[in-house]
Amino acid sequence: MKVCIVGASGKLGQYMVQHALDRGYEVVGVCREKSVPKLDRFRDRITIIPGATNDRCVIQRAVEGCDGVLTVLVPWGIQKYSSGTAQAVLDFAQSGARLIFSCGWHITKDGRDIYSWKLKVLVSVFGRIARLVRFAEIDDQVEACRRIFASGTRWTVVRGSDLEEGESQGLPVWSRHVGDPILESNITRRIDFALFMVEALTNDELVHEAPAIVSAQSPSALAHRN
Ligand SMILES: NC(=O)c1ccc[n+]([C@@H]2O[C@H](COP(=O)([O-])OP(=O)(O)OC[C@H]3O[C@@H](n4cnc5c(N)ncnc54)[C@H](OP(=O)(O)O)[C@@H]3O)[C@@H](O)[C@H]2O)c1
Repeated sequence: MKVCIVGASGKLGQYMVQHALDRGYEVVGVCREKSVPKLDRFRDRITIIPGATNDRCVIQRAVEGCDGVLTVLVPWGIQKYSSGTAQAVLDFAQSGARLIFSCGWHITKDGRDIYSWKLKVLVSVFGRIARLVRFAEIDDQVEACRRIFASGTRWTVVRGSDLEEGESQGLPVWSRHVGDPILESNITRRIDFALFMVEALTNDELVHEAPAIVSAQSPSALAHRN
């Protein structure tokens, strides 16, 4: 399997590169030119295409011939970065490719998520301040996901809980809606978020799903697992 990792140099991206290589996949990574050195340890084993992830020419080149595309959606800057990145992947990935996108719990597919007041306040206050100081556009991540959900591609949008570093605790468990008791612990190791993304490439049950994930070892997962 040949996979493209869009946003390969970030923390999540580097874990995904490692998981993909562990499975013997051929990997093409896209990252900003200045971040290429962050991928030095993989240099001889992957193809790196430097460039902004919302540069359509960069994405067109990178996804050519790929059976799967793993995309880290980030809202940084006031440049429609998330929606530009997602749109380029949707437009240029080969027909039938598995497209896996990362985001947070704040994204909702069907409006049936139940959010804590803490998360609502955080998204609202951070969103407004971030836009005011031109640091990030949370709304654009929402727009990116709206376009993904409306597309006819074989997408999965993986919604990460709060994240922490540390050794793997295994494949996270998931649920369709934030607010479901199994997700209550709201914590996942970043290495396992990446594992879920890579596993989704070959799990057709996740096509057209927006799984919200939590660590399999978290108290809520242990208490509510079937
Ligand atoms: N952080 C959390 O607690 C959390 C919680 C839930 C879900 N998530 C989701 O997890 C995914 C990864 O998030 P993360 O926080 O772990 O970060 P991350 O993996 O380190 O990824 C950050 C990405 O943003 C890029 N980036 C940073 N500054 C940028 C800028 N000014 N312009 C353009 N690109 C820039 C980085 O590229 P460079 O390598 O070039 O800097 C990198 O690809 C995201 O989809 C996020 O929504 C995160």
